[in-house]
Amino acid sequence: MITRLTEFPPKSSLDPSKFGDHTSTITAAHIEKNLEGLTVQQALESNRLYILDHHDRFMPFLIDVNNLPGNFIYATRTLFFLRGDGRLTPLAIELSEPVIQGGLTTAKSKVYTPVPSGSVEGWVWEFAKAYVAVNDSGWHQLVSHWLNTHAVMEPFVISTNRQLSVTHPVHKLLSPHYRDTMTINALARQTLINAGGVFEMTVFPEKYALEMSSIVYKNWKLTEQGLPDDLVKRGMAVPDSSSPYGVRLLIKDYPYAVDGLVIWWAIERWVNEYLAIYYPNDGVLRADKELEEWWKEVREVGHGDLKDADWWPRMVTVQELAKTCTTIIWVASALHAAVNFGQYPYAGYLPNRPTVSRRKMPEEGEEEYKQLQKGGKEADKVFIHTITSQFQTILGITLIEILSKHSSDEVYLGQRDTPEWTSDAKALEAFKRFGTRLMEIEKRILDMNKDPALKNRNGPVKMPYMLLYPNTSDVDGEKGLGLTAMGIPNSVSI
Ligand SMILES: [Fe+2]
Repeated sequence: MITRLTEFPPKSSLDPSKFGDHTSTITAAHIEKNLEGLTVQQALESNRLYILDHHDRFMPFLIDVNNLPGNFIYATRTLFFLRGDGRLTPLAIELSEPVIQGGLTTAKSKVYTPVPSGSVEGWVWEFAKAYVAVNDSGWHQLVSHWLNTHAVMEPFVISTNRQLSVTHPVHKLLSPHYRDTMTINALARQTLINAGGVFEMTVFPEKYALEMSSIVYKNWKLTEQGLPDDLVKRGMAVPDSSSPYGVRLLIKDYPYAVDGLVIWWAIERWVNEYLAIYYPNDGVLRADKELEEWWKEVREVGHGDLKDADWWPRMVTVQELAKTCTTIIWVASALHAAVNFGQYPYAGYLPNRPTVSRRKMPEEGEEEYKQLQKGGKEADKVFIHTITSQFQTILGITLIEILSKHSSDEVYLGQRDTPEWTSDAKALEAFKRFGTRLMEIEKRILDMNKDPALKNRNGPVKMPYMLLYPNTSDVDGEKGLGLTAMGIPNSVSI
């Protein structure tokens, strides 16, 4: 969810009549010492400043959340600098808590900057990072994962099943990407996202968990869910007609985007080739009554609250249908794989990635601060008592371990569970070409992971980025079985 910073200091979009001024309190003096000699303005102009901005997302909930026993979270902003060697490094973290002032929910903020470990200030920096992880874990699970992949698929699954016959080419194209989605979502409603469920216990407390994701959904737009559009919206890429993906990345070594764009391109080519068989021109599409009813239901029933939005594709050209199908397949397959199957491998050690915080940042003069000054086990204790509790940790790890596992009957992108999915030779040939391209992408990813010039693909812990390795070549599902941190299944099924 990182975005490129385009103005400094970072602004807020919270309503000033309710919240007052929430402009960031991070100043040039906080960060300029770490900009490799650049001024803030120069760093902005050369696309070197980035931000993980959770401030506006969390601030509206903090008074209620922090009134719950055993909870204390901040709204956070984290600024990053794109170094000369292509890696991002944190520059500053701003922690804000709400303060009621003159009827407005204003912010009391404090800014922290990096300090190496080994001192009390080093510990304070570790705490600041932990509070950021708490925001990020909640957003990840409730918005990036549950809302933006699992939940948003449902209207398309339902409308496709109700309005398109099973022999309709678009039904045949999309239905493999709906496998088990309604089943897993029904299970999630019983134990994960329900009131008192695992998400409320481990990632964001009580009713605010689903309240937050439902508020975010009000601004959901289908046309922003495709990867190129998402990257441009976040400022991570700029439109570029000379690129096969139509966009150029501003952080060249950005593994999710680099692998994602080539996967997007492969899906797009497959969808275009497939649809061209059945819709040689827009006139054929416009005469397709089933398709018209399908799209009407998607808009008017599946998205009743958004049906009058001006961004909906009109669905009168093959190009609009192709973009929509590419987006649906992308969300169900690659986007879900990127946010789901790395959860245990990347976030399974809670001190490194806490999901909950229970106490405030220790301040000078307080007992906890004195314990931090002692260092060693005394300091560890303060940290452990601040982050996710033992019970929440055990429950949370158990959940993400299950979510991160591939089942033995997984069907990966470029595969079909039955060879009889279509008897149309042209469609089968196009599908074979799609599979071949995906296997070429597998090789490309393995090669890039071995390239020492690409520092972000392995990171300091030497864990290669494989979340968008398609695993199409794994025909019997043996290689991808279990906790592998790789593989793109066709559908959201866990
Ligand atoms: Fe999932």
